[in-house]
Amino acid sequence: MKRIVVYPGSFDPPTYGHLDIIQRVLTLFDKVIVAVMDNPNKCSLFSIDERIKIFKEITRRFKKVEVDKFKGLLVNYVKKKKAQAVVRGLRAISDFEYEFQMAQMNRELSTEVETIFMMTSTPYSYLSSSIVKEIAKLGGDIGKFVPRPVEWMLKKKMKEGK
Ligand code: PNS
Repeated sequence: MKRIVVYPGSFDPPTYGHLDIIQRVLTLFDKVIVAVMDNPNKCSLFSIDERIKIFKEITRRFKKVEVDKFKGLLVNYVKKKKAQAVVRGLRAISDFEYEFQMAQMNRELSTEVETIFMMTSTPYSYLSSSIVKEIAKLGGDIGKFVPRPVEWMLKKKMKEGK
């Protein structure tokens, strides 16, 4: 049986922290599905199609990674994709409460779906999409935090006045 894990998130935009989780979870599963949440109620800087496009570009070298979008309940998506687990990155204790609540709720909704956590590698433990957006907005250098295509798209957004 193929072992499949879903890596869900907003990824607005993806960072090196997200890539770190993908690279490490790839060693444990046969396939990783990056599932970008399509939530029209959430005010994102990048549209769902832009996020999918960027993610496909930065994960092109990983043959076992699929990039997809999902709407609605995560557990339904995980079952539809015949995946065994969900992976989430944990940076600090502050992430824990929200992640714990989501994992427990998902297990309540479906006992078939396991959530596994990976501690983000230390260099990325302080990194978040929100903080990267703020630095970009204020004209700071984000080259260390996001892959090149993300940096370019962020700069383009800033020029457009977003
Ligand atoms: O990157 P984020 O914003 O922390 O990701 C959150 C995400 C997309 C994983 C979470 O909001 C989610 O799974 N949403 C789907 C809706 C759902 O299943 N809700 C019930 C379980 S909490």
